[in-house]
Amino acid sequence: MTGERPFSQACENNKGPILAVLQQHCQVGGTLLEIGAGTGQHAAWLSAQLPHLNWQPSDVADNLPGVRQWLQEPESRALPPLELDVSGRWPDQQFDYLYTANTLHIMSREEVVRFITAGCEHLKDKGCFVVYGPFKVAGHFTSGSNARFDEWLKDIDPQRGIRDQEWIEELFSRQQRKLVAEYDLPANNKVLVFG
Ligand SMILES: C[S@@+](CC[C@H](N)C(=O)[O-])C[C@H]1O[C@@H](n2cnc3c(N)ncnc32)[C@H](O)[C@@H]1O
Repeated sequence: MTGERPFSQACENNKGPILAVLQQHCQVGGTLLEIGAGTGQHAAWLSAQLPHLNWQPSDVADNLPGVRQWLQEPESRALPPLELDVSGRWPDQQFDYLYTANTLHIMSREEVVRFITAGCEHLKDKGCFVVYGPFKVAGHFTSGSNARFDEWLKDIDPQRGIRDQEWIEELFSRQQRKLVAEYDLPANNKVLVFG
């Protein structure tokens, strides 16, 4: 890919708070699979801050050229990105950690189910699955800006939308995983940690 690399201001804003959570829940060395790496900014920066992890970014094929550009940052320690559509074939590997940011409201509900089911099948028993993004709680948006964001998402694609935290917890519980921690992050986002 030539030209300017993709850029997300949100990634710059949220990477510090996300790092604080990962430092707490990913203390033991191992391999972390990032799903929906997007621009690749998180992979490049977070992998540098967490050198005890083998950071494996992944995304659908269209995003991989941009991710590769970010991984050229000298500080990046991330592995070359894998092509992974959560509805397709997953790598034949068990991971210590799974991490995803801002993907559940972009995927359709069917894709979210497939993601959590297949993700848990590829997570070691003692591993944890870290999910960042906006959620509804008890059927309500946690802010007016999230309600407007949900409308905007659905205008683009009616299958998109901010998910209910309780539904996500239910999908994990079907895989014998439970919520072990949750954090309120800036800009009305949350991190949910399942173990
Ligand atoms: C809003 S972007 C978030 C990107 C990045 N994680 C971030 O925080 O900026 C949503 C990401 O979900 C990915 N995604 C959507 N559907 C997917 C699927 N079926 N399988 C894997 N990734 C998917 C998109 O390709 C995109 O990278």
